[in-house]
Amino acid sequence: MAVIELRDVSFTYDGERDALSHVSLTVERGAHVVVLGRNGSGKSTLVRCVNGLVVPDEGRVLVDGRDTADPDDLLEIRRHTGMVFQNPDDQMVASVVADDVAFGPENLGVPQPGIAALVDEALRRVGMAAFAQADPAELSGGQRQRVAVAGALAMRPDILLLDEPASMLDPAGRADLARIVAGLHAAGITVLHVTHLMEDALAADRVVVMDRGTIAMEGAPDQVFARGDELEALGLELPFAQRLARRLRALGVSEALAPDTPRLRDLEEALCQSRSSR
Ligand SMILES: Nc1ncnc2c1ncn2[C@@H]1O[C@H](COP(=O)(O)OP(=O)(O)OP(=O)(O)O)[C@@H](O)[C@H]1O
Ligand SMILES: [Mg+2]
Repeated sequence: MAVIELRDVSFTYDGERDALSHVSLTVERGAHVVVLGRNGSGKSTLVRCVNGLVVPDEGRVLVDGRDTADPDDLLEIRRHTGMVFQNPDDQMVASVVADDVAFGPENLGVPQPGIAALVDEALRRVGMAAFAQADPAELSGGQRQRVAVAGALAMRPDILLLDEPASMLDPAGRADLARIVAGLHAAGITVLHVTHLMEDALAADRVVVMDRGTIAMEGAPDQVFARGDELEALGLELPFAQRLARRLRALGVSEALAPDTPRLRDLEEALCQSRSSR
């Protein structure tokens, strides 16, 4: 069943250029959808539509059948939708981790006695329970971003909107965050995830590629990455395995040894098989 539905949505910030132009998108409940696209293609605007930070000029955005343009509906939508942005520091409001995570449920009017349990649970889910009394300023960027995710989770959302949450993190922080997102998806949360990391896209159920305010490509990761030339034309860098395989083929290595795959383990397998069959 569709939990997020954009119906022919258009939006402009400046009245001149459309940040979104006639975008239609359906996200099924429990899906993990990754949004890719070059800078300025409309990714952030798209996810901001879902929690009403952006209200379309034309078309409708429905979340669980509720319309983001209706103020009563929007309150209800925000109860069920958590959002994490690129920079954790833009999302920290308190000087103690637990207070920061409590901010969301407090805002929703959850009674005090219930809040501690929500905060505990949220911090546990991101592996930060031991830091409940820490000062966010003393944490690493990756830890702060995990606290930001906990802040979203403390509201027990059905939907998690992620706008490049890993872009300020180091590789270990990114891997941690990817594992956390995979765990939340496995627990049934619908994830709409803007990223520029191809590894994130490979882990998704579905990939949407934006270009100049429109959806240029959409499909399962393997379907989308099978169209490597189009992805490159849309300004995206292919996954490492795919780039390497393409280079090898250009040097005359056969397709069997250097298959056009985005997945490193497939490439590894093909190359290892050639060694073992010698
Ligand atoms: N607050 C704003 N005011 C005016 N124009 C904006 C604003 N935010 C975005 N835009 C414009 O809307 C278009 C889409 O921007 P958006 O931020 O959605 O792109 P994006 O794909 O998220 O880009 P990035 O990869 O840089 O985050 C761009 O042309 C951008 O310049
Ligand atoms: Mg953006």
